[in-house]
Amino acid sequence: MLDKKYTWYKIAETIGELQFGENNILQVEVAGKNICIAKTLNGLSACAAKCPHAGGNMEAGFLDKNGNIVCPVHRYAFNFKNGRDVTGEGYYLKIYPVEVNEGGVFLGIAQSGFFNWLK
Ligand code: FES
Repeated sequence: MLDKKYTWYKIAETIGELQFGENNILQVEVAGKNICIAKTLNGLSACAAKCPHAGGNMEAGFLDKNGNIVCPVHRYAFNFKNGRDVTGEGYYLKIYPVEVNEGGVFLGIAQSGFFNWLK
């Protein structure tokens, strides 16, 4: 079931419909945000398309053997579970939840606003 803390956007009917690059990463625009979807050993993961270090384009990066996404500019690697850079520089990449169910492939964007904060 989709977590109600997020607004869920359908990005494809099936995983097979997603056109991944050779690096298993693709970029989509969801709710005005540029987001990278990556096909990792653990399934689909999603993160901001822009590196928090100096704005590198994560779509042009790659996945390392541990399933981290590596920025192509200075090669900082980010963990998809918590967004933390595993190379220890202290940067965080925004991570988004992805859900695949019988209805399609969905990307979650955290709801914001005062009333959501109260829930
Ligand atoms: S811009 Fe991504 S690591 Fe520097």
